[in-house]
Amino acid sequence: MASHNLSSATPASLVDPFGRTVDYLRLSVTDRCNLRCTYCMAEDMTFLPRQQILSLEELRDVATAFVELGVKKIRLTGGEPLIRRDIIKLVDAIAGLQGLDEVTMTTNGMLLPKMSQSLKDAGLARLNISVDSLKPKRFKELTRTGDLELWHQGVQAAKQARFNKLKLNAVILDGFNDDEVIDLARFAVDNEMDISFIEEMPLGVISSHERSATQISSAHIREQLDSEFSLVDSVETTGGPSRYVHIANSSSKIGFISPMSNNFCESCNRVRMTAEGRLLLCLGNEHSMDLRSVMRGNPGDTELLKSKIIQALQNKPERHYFDPDKIDIVRFMNMTGG
Ligand code: 5AD
Ligand code: SF4
Repeated sequence: MASHNLSSATPASLVDPFGRTVDYLRLSVTDRCNLRCTYCMAEDMTFLPRQQILSLEELRDVATAFVELGVKKIRLTGGEPLIRRDIIKLVDAIAGLQGLDEVTMTTNGMLLPKMSQSLKDAGLARLNISVDSLKPKRFKELTRTGDLELWHQGVQAAKQARFNKLKLNAVILDGFNDDEVIDLARFAVDNEMDISFIEEMPLGVISSHERSATQISSAHIREQLDSEFSLVDSVETTGGPSRYVHIANSSSKIGFISPMSNNFCESCNRVRMTAEGRLLLCLGNEHSMDLRSVMRGNPGDTELLKSKIIQALQNKPERHYFDPDKIDIVRFMNMTGG
Protein backbone atom coordinates (compact mmCIF):
# COMPACT_ATOMS: atom_id res chain seq x y z
CA MET A 1 0.00 0.00 0.00
CA ALA A 2 1.59 3.19 -1.20
CA SER A 3 0.35 5.27 1.70
CA HIS A 4 2.08 2.88 4.08
CA ASN A 5 5.39 2.98 2.34
CA LEU A 6 6.76 6.47 2.58
CA SER A 7 10.41 5.54 2.95
CA SER A 8 11.47 7.34 -0.21
CA ALA A 9 9.44 10.41 0.78
CA THR A 10 10.48 10.33 4.44
CA PRO A 11 12.49 13.46 5.24
CA ALA A 12 15.66 13.09 7.28
CA SER A 13 14.33 15.66 9.71
CA LEU A 14 11.02 16.64 11.22
CA VAL A 15 10.13 20.21 10.28
CA ASP A 16 6.87 21.83 11.38
CA PRO A 17 4.80 24.42 9.45
CA PHE A 18 6.66 27.22 11.26
CA GLY A 19 10.05 26.00 10.08
CA ARG A 20 11.12 24.55 13.43
CA THR A 21 13.06 21.29 13.32
CA VAL A 22 12.09 18.77 15.99
CA ASP A 23 15.14 16.80 17.09
CA TYR A 24 14.21 16.22 20.75
CA LEU A 25 11.68 13.72 22.10
CA ARG A 26 10.51 13.61 25.71
CA LEU A 27 9.23 10.12 26.26
CA SER A 28 7.08 9.42 29.32
CA VAL A 29 7.39 5.82 30.49
CA THR A 30 4.76 5.91 33.26
CA ASP A 31 2.15 8.29 34.68
CA ARG A 32 2.77 6.88 38.17
CA CYS A 33 5.04 8.39 40.77
CA ASN A 34 6.36 7.54 44.20
CA LEU A 35 5.85 11.19 45.24
CA ARG A 36 2.79 13.48 45.21
CA CYS A 37 4.21 16.98 44.76
CA THR A 38 1.46 19.48 45.54
CA TYR A 39 1.90 21.57 42.38
CA CYS A 40 2.00 18.49 40.16
CA MET A 41 -0.71 16.18 41.45
CA ALA A 42 -3.95 16.13 43.36
CA GLU A 43 -3.73 14.12 46.58
CA ASP A 44 -5.81 11.20 45.34
CA MET A 45 -4.83 10.59 41.76
CA THR A 46 -6.14 7.78 39.63
CA PHE A 47 -3.53 6.30 37.36
CA LEU A 48 -3.90 4.55 34.05
CA PRO A 49 -4.53 0.81 33.97
CA ARG A 50 -1.45 -1.10 32.86
CA GLN A 51 -2.79 -2.21 29.46
CA GLN A 52 -3.25 1.43 28.47
CA ILE A 53 0.43 2.16 29.01
CA LEU A 54 2.89 1.56 26.17
CA SER A 55 4.77 -1.70 26.53
CA LEU A 56 8.56 -1.83 26.58
CA GLU A 57 8.53 -2.94 22.92
CA GLU A 58 6.18 -0.11 21.95
CA LEU A 59 8.38 2.45 23.72
CA ARG A 60 11.40 1.08 21.87
CA ASP A 61 9.54 1.19 18.53
CA VAL A 62 8.49 4.80 19.10
CA ALA A 63 12.06 5.77 20.00
CA THR A 64 13.39 3.97 16.91
CA ALA A 65 10.90 5.70 14.61
CA PHE A 66 11.78 9.14 15.99
CA VAL A 67 15.51 8.53 15.70
CA GLU A 68 15.06 7.38 12.09
CA LEU A 69 13.25 10.68 11.54
CA GLY A 70 16.23 12.66 12.80
CA VAL A 71 15.68 12.96 16.57
CA LYS A 72 19.05 13.39 18.31
CA LYS A 73 18.08 13.48 21.95
CA ILE A 74 15.57 11.48 23.97
CA ARG A 75 14.69 12.32 27.57
CA LEU A 76 12.86 9.69 29.60
CA THR A 77 10.28 11.21 31.93
CA GLY A 78 7.15 10.27 33.88
CA GLY A 79 5.61 10.37 36.43
CA GLU A 80 8.75 8.92 37.90
CA PRO A 81 10.62 6.96 35.21
CA LEU A 82 12.60 4.88 37.71
CA ILE A 83 9.50 3.10 39.00
CA ARG A 84 8.84 1.70 35.53
CA ARG A 85 9.65 -2.00 35.38
CA ASP A 86 12.52 -2.76 32.98
CA ILE A 87 13.60 0.87 32.76
CA ILE A 88 17.26 -0.18 32.61
CA LYS A 89 16.51 -2.44 29.63
CA LEU A 90 14.79 0.47 27.91
CA VAL A 91 17.71 2.84 28.51
CA ASP A 92 20.06 0.20 27.15
CA ALA A 93 17.95 -0.31 24.00
CA ILE A 94 17.53 3.40 23.31
CA ALA A 95 21.19 4.22 24.03
CA GLY A 96 22.12 1.71 21.30
CA LEU A 97 20.06 3.41 18.56
CA GLN A 98 22.20 4.50 15.60
CA GLY A 99 22.04 8.25 15.08
CA LEU A 100 20.95 9.22 18.60
CA ASP A 101 23.34 11.61 20.40
CA GLU A 102 22.13 11.01 23.92
CA VAL A 103 19.49 9.53 26.16
CA THR A 104 18.82 11.45 29.38
CA MET A 105 16.31 11.30 32.23
CA THR A 106 14.41 13.50 34.66
CA THR A 107 13.88 11.88 38.06
CA ASN A 108 12.88 12.83 41.59
CA GLY A 109 15.96 10.98 42.85
CA MET A 110 14.26 8.68 45.36
CA LEU A 111 15.49 5.52 43.62
CA LEU A 112 18.92 6.78 42.64
CA PRO A 113 20.69 5.22 45.64
CA LYS A 114 19.81 1.83 44.12
CA MET A 115 19.82 2.56 40.41
CA SER A 116 22.46 5.18 39.53
CA GLN A 117 25.21 2.82 38.53
CA SER A 118 23.01 0.55 36.39
CA LEU A 119 21.62 3.60 34.60
CA LYS A 120 25.11 4.81 33.82
CA ASP A 121 26.19 1.34 32.70
CA ALA A 122 23.14 1.09 30.42
CA GLY A 123 24.25 4.25 28.63
CA LEU A 124 22.30 7.09 30.23
CA ALA A 125 24.29 10.26 29.54
CA ARG A 126 22.87 12.90 31.85
CA LEU A 127 20.39 13.20 34.71
CA ASN A 128 18.11 15.99 35.86
CA ILE A 129 17.16 15.57 39.52
CA SER A 130 14.19 17.50 40.89
CA VAL A 131 14.34 19.22 44.26
CA ASP A 132 12.24 22.12 45.51
CA SER A 133 13.42 22.42 49.11
CA LEU A 134 16.48 21.51 51.15
CA LYS A 135 14.56 21.72 54.42
CA PRO A 136 13.42 18.22 55.49
CA LYS A 137 10.03 19.28 56.82
CA ARG A 138 9.23 21.43 53.83
CA PHE A 139 10.45 18.77 51.40
CA LYS A 140 8.03 16.36 53.03
CA GLU A 141 5.18 18.85 52.92
CA LEU A 142 5.73 19.63 49.24
CA THR A 143 6.19 16.06 48.05
CA ARG A 144 3.65 14.61 50.55
CA THR A 145 5.57 11.31 50.68
CA GLY A 146 9.23 12.19 50.01
CA ASP A 147 12.29 11.88 52.22
CA LEU A 148 15.05 14.46 51.86
CA GLU A 149 17.69 12.17 53.35
CA LEU A 150 17.01 9.59 50.64
CA TRP A 151 17.18 12.37 48.03
CA HIS A 152 20.66 13.34 49.33
CA GLN A 153 21.79 9.71 49.12
CA GLY A 154 20.49 9.64 45.55
CA VAL A 155 22.50 12.70 44.57
CA GLN A 156 25.66 11.23 46.07
CA ALA A 157 25.10 7.93 44.23
CA ALA A 158 24.59 9.83 40.95
CA LYS A 159 27.82 11.78 41.54
CA GLN A 160 29.70 8.56 42.14
CA ALA A 161 28.34 7.06 38.92
CA ARG A 162 29.93 9.94 36.97
CA PHE A 163 27.24 10.99 34.54
CA ASN A 164 28.37 13.54 31.95
CA LYS A 165 26.45 16.21 33.77
CA LEU A 166 24.01 16.44 36.66
CA LYS A 167 21.40 19.17 36.86
CA LEU A 168 18.90 20.08 39.55
CA ASN A 169 15.38 21.26 38.67
CA ALA A 170 13.58 23.47 41.18
CA VAL A 171 10.04 24.77 40.80
CA ILE A 172 9.80 28.00 42.83
CA LEU A 173 6.48 28.91 44.45
CA ASP A 174 6.15 32.42 45.84
CA GLY A 175 5.58 32.43 49.59
CA PHE A 176 6.53 28.79 49.87
CA ASN A 177 10.11 28.13 48.79
CA ASP A 178 11.22 31.44 47.24
CA ASP A 179 13.40 31.93 50.33
CA GLU A 180 15.52 28.94 49.26
CA VAL A 181 16.65 30.15 45.85
CA ILE A 182 20.13 31.06 47.06
CA ASP A 183 20.54 27.90 49.17
CA LEU A 184 19.52 25.72 46.23
CA ALA A 185 21.99 27.47 43.92
CA ARG A 186 24.70 27.19 46.59
CA PHE A 187 24.05 23.44 46.88
CA ALA A 188 24.44 23.10 43.10
CA VAL A 189 27.73 25.02 43.11
CA ASP A 190 29.13 23.04 46.06
CA ASN A 191 28.30 19.78 44.27
CA GLU A 192 29.51 20.93 40.82
CA MET A 193 26.04 20.60 39.33
CA ASP A 194 23.92 22.94 37.21
CA ILE A 195 20.51 24.09 38.38
CA SER A 196 17.38 25.28 36.57
CA PHE A 197 14.67 27.33 38.21
CA ILE A 198 11.25 26.60 36.72
CA GLU A 199 8.12 28.76 36.78
CA GLU A 200 5.03 26.84 37.89
CA MET A 201 2.63 26.09 35.04
CA PRO A 202 -1.16 25.73 35.36
CA LEU A 203 -1.33 22.07 34.37
CA GLY A 204 -4.16 20.19 36.06
CA VAL A 205 -6.53 21.17 38.87
CA ILE A 206 -4.83 21.07 42.28
CA SER A 207 -6.21 21.65 45.77
CA SER A 208 -3.16 22.66 47.81
CA HIS A 209 -2.90 26.28 46.63
CA GLU A 210 -4.14 28.89 44.14
CA ARG A 211 -1.60 28.82 41.35
CA SER A 212 -2.01 32.56 40.71
CA ALA A 213 -0.95 33.26 44.33
CA THR A 214 2.36 31.39 44.04
CA GLN A 215 3.57 32.74 40.69
CA ILE A 216 7.07 34.17 40.76
CA SER A 217 8.91 35.16 37.60
CA SER A 218 12.37 34.08 36.57
CA ALA A 219 13.33 37.79 36.62
CA HIS A 220 12.60 37.95 40.37
CA ILE A 221 14.54 34.77 41.00
CA ARG A 222 17.45 36.17 39.02
CA GLU A 223 17.39 39.36 41.13
CA GLN A 224 17.81 37.30 44.29
CA LEU A 225 20.69 35.37 42.78
CA ASP A 226 22.38 38.56 41.56
CA SER A 227 22.60 39.77 45.15
CA GLU A 228 24.63 36.71 46.12
CA PHE A 229 26.57 35.50 43.05
CA SER A 230 28.44 37.11 40.22
CA LEU A 231 26.46 35.95 37.18
CA VAL A 232 27.65 36.08 33.59
CA ASP A 233 25.07 35.79 30.78
CA SER A 234 25.53 32.95 28.35
CA VAL A 235 24.19 32.30 24.86
CA GLU A 236 24.62 28.58 25.40
CA THR A 237 21.69 26.18 25.18
CA THR A 238 21.56 22.47 25.88
CA GLY A 239 18.70 21.93 23.47
CA GLY A 240 16.14 22.87 26.11
CA PRO A 241 14.16 26.02 26.91
CA SER A 242 16.51 27.07 29.75
CA ARG A 243 18.31 30.40 29.41
CA TYR A 244 21.63 30.09 31.13
CA VAL A 245 23.96 32.22 33.20
CA HIS A 246 27.37 31.17 34.46
CA ILE A 247 28.41 31.61 38.05
CA ALA A 248 31.83 33.26 38.17
CA ASN A 249 34.58 31.04 39.65
CA SER A 250 32.51 27.89 39.44
CA SER A 251 31.74 25.21 36.87
CA SER A 252 27.99 25.54 37.53
CA LYS A 253 25.40 27.14 35.31
CA ILE A 254 22.02 28.45 36.38
CA GLY A 255 19.10 28.00 33.97
CA PHE A 256 15.78 29.80 33.95
CA ILE A 257 12.78 28.00 32.48
CA SER A 258 10.13 30.66 32.04
CA PRO A 259 7.03 29.22 30.39
CA MET A 260 4.87 31.90 32.06
CA SER A 261 6.91 35.09 31.75
CA ASN A 262 9.00 34.53 28.68
CA ASN A 263 7.59 32.56 25.84
CA PHE A 264 10.29 30.40 24.26
CA CYS A 265 8.07 28.80 21.63
CA GLU A 266 9.81 30.27 18.58
CA SER A 267 12.81 28.06 19.22
CA CYS A 268 10.86 24.97 20.32
CA ASN A 269 12.56 21.80 19.11
CA ARG A 270 10.64 19.15 21.03
CA VAL A 271 7.54 16.97 21.20
CA ARG A 272 6.29 14.77 24.03
CA MET A 273 4.94 11.26 24.12
CA THR A 274 2.58 10.51 27.02
CA ALA A 275 2.79 7.15 28.78
CA GLU A 276 -0.38 6.02 26.99
CA GLY A 277 1.13 6.78 23.59
CA ARG A 278 -0.39 10.15 22.82
CA LEU A 279 2.02 12.37 20.91
CA LEU A 280 1.65 15.89 22.33
CA LEU A 281 2.80 18.59 19.97
CA CYS A 282 2.98 21.31 22.64
CA LEU A 283 3.04 21.42 26.45
CA GLY A 284 0.38 24.14 26.59
CA ASN A 285 -2.05 22.89 23.94
CA GLU A 286 -4.12 19.78 23.43
CA HIS A 287 -3.02 19.07 19.83
CA SER A 288 -2.04 15.44 19.81
CA MET A 289 -2.08 12.17 17.92
CA ASP A 290 -2.81 8.72 19.32
CA LEU A 291 0.19 6.66 18.25
CA ARG A 292 -0.73 3.72 20.48
CA SER A 293 -3.68 2.81 18.27
CA VAL A 294 -1.46 3.14 15.20
CA MET A 295 1.03 0.68 16.72
CA ARG A 296 -1.54 -1.74 18.14
CA GLY A 297 -3.54 -1.75 14.90
CA ASN A 298 -0.46 -2.27 12.73
CA PRO A 299 2.21 -4.08 14.77
CA GLY A 300 5.72 -3.80 13.37
CA ASP A 301 4.80 -1.27 10.66
CA THR A 302 7.54 1.31 11.33
CA GLU A 303 6.94 3.12 8.06
CA LEU A 304 3.31 3.76 8.94
CA LEU A 305 4.33 4.94 12.39
CA LYS A 306 6.84 7.33 10.86
CA SER A 307 4.32 8.69 8.38
CA LYS A 308 1.85 9.33 11.22
CA ILE A 309 4.51 11.21 13.18
CA ILE A 310 5.26 13.38 10.16
CA GLN A 311 1.53 13.99 9.73
CA ALA A 312 1.12 14.90 13.43
CA LEU A 313 3.91 17.44 13.19
CA GLN A 314 1.84 19.46 10.75
CA ASN A 315 -0.39 20.26 13.75
CA LYS A 316 2.30 21.63 16.02
CA PRO A 317 0.91 24.91 17.38
CA GLU A 318 2.93 28.10 16.97
CA ARG A 319 2.96 28.86 20.70
CA HIS A 320 1.34 28.30 24.08
CA TYR A 321 -0.74 30.80 26.09
CA PHE A 322 -0.70 30.08 29.84
CA ASP A 323 -2.88 31.97 32.29
CA PRO A 324 -2.38 31.01 35.97
CA ASP A 325 -5.99 32.02 36.73
CA LYS A 326 -7.42 29.72 34.14
CA ILE A 327 -6.86 25.99 33.86
CA ASP A 328 -7.24 25.36 30.15
CA ILE A 329 -5.07 22.30 30.30
CA VAL A 330 -6.67 19.74 32.55
CA ARG A 331 -3.94 17.15 32.21
CA PHE A 332 -1.45 17.05 35.08
CA MET A 333 2.30 17.14 34.56
CA ASN A 334 2.53 13.41 35.32
CA MET A 335 0.10 12.81 32.44
CA THR A 336 2.01 15.19 30.21
CA GLY A 337 5.49 13.83 30.69
CA GLY A 338 7.68 16.11 32.82
N1 5AD B 1 4.77 23.49 36.63
C1 5AD B 1 6.13 23.51 36.48
N2 5AD B 1 6.91 22.42 36.67
C2 5AD B 1 6.31 21.29 37.03
N3 5AD B 1 6.82 20.07 37.29
C3 5AD B 1 5.80 19.25 37.61
N4 5AD B 1 4.63 19.91 37.57
C4 5AD B 1 4.91 21.19 37.21
C5 5AD B 1 4.12 22.36 37.00
N5 5AD B 1 2.80 22.37 37.14
C6 5AD B 1 8.26 19.81 37.22
C7 5AD B 1 8.81 18.85 38.22
C8 5AD B 1 10.06 18.37 37.56
C9 5AD B 1 9.85 18.64 36.10
C10 5AD B 1 9.87 17.43 35.27
O1 5AD B 1 8.58 19.26 35.99
O2 5AD B 1 9.13 19.44 39.43
O3 5AD B 1 11.20 19.08 37.99
FE1 SF4 C 1 6.29 12.91 40.91
FE2 SF4 C 1 7.73 14.77 39.61
FE3 SF4 C 1 5.10 15.07 39.91
FE4 SF4 C 1 6.66 15.29 42.02
S1 SF4 C 1 6.68 16.64 40.23
S2 SF4 C 1 4.74 14.14 41.92
S3 SF4 C 1 8.24 13.83 41.59
S4 SF4 C 1 6.10 13.48 38.74
